[in-house]
Amino acid sequence: LLSRPLSVWRYRELLPVDIPPVTLQEGGTPLYHLKRIGEEIGLKNLYAKHEGMNPTGSFKDRGMTLGVSMAIQLNMKMVACASTGNTSASLAAYAARAGIPSVVLLPAGKVAIGKVAQALMHGARVISINGNFDRALEMVHELCISHGIYLLNSVNPYRLEGQKTIGYEVIDQLGYVPDRIVLPVGNAGNISAVYKGLTEWLDLGWIDTIPKMTGIQAAGSAPVVRAIQGDLPSVVPDASPETVATAIRIGAPVNGEKALIAIRKTGGIAESVTDEEILSMQRDLARLEGIGVEPASAASVAGIKKLQEIGMIDSDEEIVCVVTGHLLKDPQTVIAQCSPPIEIDATLPALLSALQL
Ligand code: F0G
Repeated sequence: LLSRPLSVWRYRELLPVDIPPVTLQEGGTPLYHLKRIGEEIGLKNLYAKHEGMNPTGSFKDRGMTLGVSMAIQLNMKMVACASTGNTSASLAAYAARAGIPSVVLLPAGKVAIGKVAQALMHGARVISINGNFDRALEMVHELCISHGIYLLNSVNPYRLEGQKTIGYEVIDQLGYVPDRIVLPVGNAGNISAVYKGLTEWLDLGWIDTIPKMTGIQAAGSAPVVRAIQGDLPSVVPDASPETVATAIRIGAPVNGEKALIAIRKTGGIAESVTDEEILSMQRDLARLEGIGVEPASAASVAGIKKLQEIGMIDSDEEIVCVVTGHLLKDPQTVIAQCSPPIEIDATLPALLSALQL
């Protein structure tokens, strides 16, 4: 196993099926030490696993390679999902790779433009509904059941099996088990997947502890955080979730109960961050570390900054934040935070004057 390159299929014996993969070479993403941000926050051992470096720019590809491979194996004729954007981009690309049609349902006006562009270009049938993600998921569920279409949201267990490899790669890249893994939480599939994967390594005796699973949500869309902090037995949905981090604008996470188990059993934490904190960390990652991520992804690092500030983190901890999607997914939110380019006459004096040199 150790001689195989890092990728989802490197761990194929730990996946539930051994089938010919529909693959775009997902996984094997970089793990970066966050030296400057870590110094600023007071955490020496802070890392980011950049899942935006997957083929379609998000961690969803890890699940989709398995999910679409299964769809082919099961002889399904069409695949579908509801999405805040990234799942739809990934599904569209993997369906194209497999040569089967795909349908994606999006909440109208609430999906970042890069993600819509991908879904359209890869040839999905893209439907925008006048409702939020939670409603889109209900609708696609009904569509799939009534029409024999293969559903590829994170209710599909094969998706989570692929995503669990994030935790495996983190440990293989570091060479040890970190104290904490931090993930942005939307539908709560990813945090549950990583936890499930690590429990399997624990059962195999390959590791002797599981990192504290730590979930970060946007303040306007934080049902899991409320359940953890309020010690509730289950997640109480948010009727109207709202956040600039549209990827995690989800009020009724389908894997919410699993996330509660992952966080509680590992002694983890759930915390929320404001849109301002998210965008400020998106800029810090870009400018202090050279790491370009979309807003939802910056939430994990913004969350650890907040947790450190309120004294919830030991400064010696080894912490890995999963940053889930690429900066280019949501260029509009990026442009809105930056000054526009300086337009000048095409002369050297004009250039020097613009640069104040
Ligand atoms: N980060 C990004 C960039 C995402 O796109 C998502 C989910 C999450 C974090 C949260 O992951 O749902 O497993 O807790 N996006 C889904 C989508 C919902 O449709 O693309 P989760």
